[in-house]
Amino acid sequence: MSERETWATRAGFILAAVGSAVGLGNIWQFPFKTAQFGGASFLIVYLIAALGIGLPTILAEFVIGRKSNLNTISAFEKLGYKNWRIVGALGLFTGFWILSYYSVVGGWVLRYLGGSVTGAYFGAPAEYFGQISAGMDALVLHAVFMALVIGIVAAGIEDGIEKATKLMVPSIVVILGALAIFAFTLPGASEGYAYFLSPNFDALASNFGEIVPFAVGQAFFSLSLGMGAMITYASYIDGDESLFGDGITIVFLNSFVGILAGLVVIPLLFAQGIDPNTSGAGAVFISVAGAFGSLPAGRIIGVVFFAVVLIAALSSAISLLEVVVAWAIDNYDVSRPQVATLLGGIIFLLGVPSALDTAWLGWFDTLAYKFFLPVGVLGILVFAAWVYGAPAIDELMKGSGLGEGVGLTWLWLARTLVIVAVVVTLALGFQTLFLGENPAIIPPL
Ligand code: TRP
Repeated sequence: MSERETWATRAGFILAAVGSAVGLGNIWQFPFKTAQFGGASFLIVYLIAALGIGLPTILAEFVIGRKSNLNTISAFEKLGYKNWRIVGALGLFTGFWILSYYSVVGGWVLRYLGGSVTGAYFGAPAEYFGQISAGMDALVLHAVFMALVIGIVAAGIEDGIEKATKLMVPSIVVILGALAIFAFTLPGASEGYAYFLSPNFDALASNFGEIVPFAVGQAFFSLSLGMGAMITYASYIDGDESLFGDGITIVFLNSFVGILAGLVVIPLLFAQGIDPNTSGAGAVFISVAGAFGSLPAGRIIGVVFFAVVLIAALSSAISLLEVVVAWAIDNYDVSRPQVATLLGGIIFLLGVPSALDTAWLGWFDTLAYKFFLPVGVLGILVFAAWVYGAPAIDELMKGSGLGEGVGLTWLWLARTLVIVAVVVTLALGFQTLFLGENPAIIPPL
């Protein structure tokens, strides 16, 4: 078997990981929830969740990946814990699961990119969304999006993912920055900022029980944690640079892009007098899209905006496909382009229900968010902090130049607070999944 691939540079690894993290979660969920949950006061809660819970978890994944230099299943065996491959296997399954519907949404973005050029959705954004979000249109564009993802992953780590994300991540920051400056010039922008960021401790206090699990869940999803994406990416690291430094950089950039996205979309909505109190699909594809229809330079701004959303979605989607491709390449004598195509094709098929009916898409998303990802995070944390333990600290500290205290702090945070936070998040999710009148676990048949 040929030698395993590696990143060409440390920056290449960091940018690929940021590319994975920065995605639809940052653009279509984060700004709206921030505004709704108390602006700047929510931001503080989120940053605490990202640093206190997301960072220790991303470090746990990095340790497993860099130490083993293997995919998310084989890694556990290599470290001497064969039975823990079950955690990796769950991650692999979750990779198939999430990418299947993430790609359908990627297809919508492609469609809106075209729609911005022709102005197709300008008159009636809600009707347009209804037409293109489910059915034949959605299916075809889901296929196109998957083909793009397969193309990048097939080209390999250095020549595919690293080259692509090196271009994509800086473009996301620059384009969003330019759009934020444009939004700043619009009348009504200042009310937008006030709505987005002004601290509202009452809103925070009265919804605290809902906000904390949301902040934790968002930190996990947004940092691509819980299914081995970061294990897989870290497995291609060649060298002993500070994992700790890399982790902080990624958490910081990921939060920064979320805030930047808010500085684009929220003033835009205010300038057009559109109610920003929506979230999820309707927010980006109906409200924001609607704003372009009434802006003077709406076509250009729309094209640029959906281009940046497409880049963000693509650079996340490739990390999901890479998790399953890495597993196949490490274990079987197959070529990368072949498995990328085969496994990408299976993922496409799994996404067909989501492309035909948005109720399926929502069901896949809910199960991922509330069940597969938190269970995966829990497994990874228990393994890294309780089972693997001391060698994990050694791996974490290697090349970091930091004292032993940092490693011990990580270990005990991961062993206690972080695990408790995940268990609470899971428990709350279980309520919506299994209890009540409409348990979310029941598929929309
Ligand atoms: N983080 C991406 C986003 O914010 C989505 C994503 C990519 C993801 N890879 C993942 C989520 C792995 C969970 C696990 O859109």
